[in-house]
Amino acid sequence: MRSPIRHSKAWIEREALREKGQFWTPEWIAEAMVAYLAAGGHQTLFDPAVGAGAFFRAAKTLGREIGKDFALSGTEIDKAALSEAIESGLSHEDLLHVRIGDFLLESSPGTIEAVVANPPYIRHHRLSNGLKGKLREFCFKSIDTTLDGRAGLHVYFLIAGLRSLSSGGRLAFISTGRYCGGRVCPETLEMDIHQL
Ligand SMILES: C[S@@+](CC[C@H](N)C(=O)[O-])C[C@H]1O[C@@H](n2cnc3c(N)ncnc32)[C@H](O)[C@@H]1O
Repeated sequence: MRSPIRHSKAWIEREALREKGQFWTPEWIAEAMVAYLAAGGHQTLFDPAVGAGAFFRAAKTLGREIGKDFALSGTEIDKAALSEAIESGLSHEDLLHVRIGDFLLESSPGTIEAVVANPPYIRHHRLSNGLKGKLREFCFKSIDTTLDGRAGLHVYFLIAGLRSLSSGGRLAFISTGRYCGGRVCPETLEMDIHQL
């Protein structure tokens, strides 16, 4: 009889993070992305998936350097991630306008001027059937079509992020090369994004 596979503690912890799409953006990348938004003249910053707050910290650092006080807001589905944000130097006041909730299912179109995101990269086989159904509905509502069922959560985040921008808004988004050449998107997604 084969003995059951035993995983290391590190492997189990990493799997738990994968389930939630929780990987934090390195400081230098966060700062470059926030600088891109600031270069567009924006003084507000919305992070749809705040996590441990890398973009908020970057906005505060950059703000001090250029004498700008960014108005910070966002959403985060996992309240526990925000405790990490506090542990890594943000104050409760910095997080005052972060809503605990699901950005995808609760975002409104055309309302935000500057979006910065490192979306949760959660692959389709980790998404429940219930959530997949809601994502299909969201997609249909947003771009009048649905995506290939193999699209990961981050693809829906890109659509929701673009859709939430107000006129003249800017989006800084960590993406993958698969948006351009993968099985899921190619022409369909490109076409649909132009419609947003
Ligand atoms: C890749 S992390 C990025 C966190 C942080 N913004 C950074 O750049 O370091 C993605 C975050 O999205 C959160 N998340 C996952 N699904 C979400 C959803 N539907 N709505 C809002 N946040 C979500 C996860 O809990 C995680 O903290």
